[in-house]
Amino acid sequence: MAVLLTGGAGYIGSHTALTLLEQGEDIVVADNLCNSSEESLRRVQEITGKKLRFYQADVASRSDMEELFSREPIESVIHFAGLKAVGESVEQPLRYYRVNLDCTLTLLECMAGHGVKNLVFSSSATVYGDGRPPFREGDPTPGCTNPYGWTKLMIEQIITDAAAADSGLSAVLLRYFNPVGAHPSGRIGEDPRGIPNNLMPYIAQVASGRREKLTVYGDDYPTPDGSCIRDYLHVCDLAEGHGRALAYARAHSGVEIINLGRGQGVSVLEMVEAWGRANGPIPYEIGPRRSGDIPVSCANVDKARELLGWEARRDVEDMCRDSWNWQRNNPLGYEK
Ligand code: NAD
Ligand code: UD1
Repeated sequence: MAVLLTGGAGYIGSHTALTLLEQGEDIVVADNLCNSSEESLRRVQEITGKKLRFYQADVASRSDMEELFSREPIESVIHFAGLKAVGESVEQPLRYYRVNLDCTLTLLECMAGHGVKNLVFSSSATVYGDGRPPFREGDPTPGCTNPYGWTKLMIEQIITDAAAADSGLSAVLLRYFNPVGAHPSGRIGEDPRGIPNNLMPYIAQVASGRREKLTVYGDDYPTPDGSCIRDYLHVCDLAEGHGRALAYARAHSGVEIINLGRGQGVSVLEMVEAWGRANGPIPYEIGPRRSGDIPVSCANVDKARELLGWEARRDVEDMCRDSWNWQRNNPLGYEK
């Protein structure tokens, strides 16, 4: 029996594929490569010495997915596929709703048609909006500030409704906080297209000389050093969290929402310092706030500990060291 990873060639999907292969799972990946490269999967197989099966498929396409489900003995699904750039979602809202919702609807229909009952979904801490951190899973989700976030909330609702109508369906909705870092081999990592929006890939590109300096977006927030606080977590911890969530989904039915974070806030300036300790200093300047940023985002991680027996093990310096190891070995990402 196999686990299907939709979007499995991407950043989090490739690290999860690696972890699950190492745990002895049989892995099938469906990805249309719109934001990734098949090279990530080639390297996952090289690192693990194990094979997976790849389908270049549009997860929103019923025919692509029917073909996959009829050929492969899929028993569980981890659903990563979708578009994820917040700013782009504001500029192209219909595309984001179309892709993210259609991928999920097609997937759920194929799962129902083929009797597949276990699902893990990539949601995001963005659904907590500007609520009161540390965020707990039961906190209200009053709405999002961007279409990307809304797609995550809508998909959580769609999966919850599907599970209410099918008592055999089991779903774990994982709300990730800020995934960063890379596999310590330096062979797979985050490969953003164009200028990175997110902090860690930006710092890594400054360190490699591809960007001149980091701009810290605001030092006048109500935080101890004035810069924003986030709950960064190593992508390998996140990948292991998926292994635990999969085991949980297999053993239970119904829907659980679970935060995956470290439960520790780190400010932008603290991250810059940690980078300096791990890899040497990088140039930065203080700039204006970025619109849409909240001062503090941090998880309460009790539920992950209790239900999954999972806790992040890697610290901020591991995140910085592994990001740099990936960046310096692959200055242009998966392109040569
Ligand atoms: P990513 O872009 O690297 O991976 C997503 C993958 O989905 C890509 O490989 C892309 O090619 C694929 N894809 C997109 N549309 C598709 C389609 N129609 N058919 C098939 N494949 C398609 O992103 P990631 O960082 O690995 O994120 C994975 C998931 O986790 C996403 O759903 C994202 O929204 C969610 N998430 C990510 C973060 C983060 O900080 N990276 C935070 C919270 C949630
Ligand atoms: C952003 C998204 C979030 C998404 C996450 C992962 C927004 C508002 N939120 O989260 O929905 O799930 O990415 O893709 O876009 N920073 C700088 N300089 C930079 C880049 C970032 O100071 O060049 C700061 C930001 O202001 C923020 C922190 O670093 O305080 C982290 O930023 P980022 O990595 O973009 O993550 P989030 O904004 O938390």
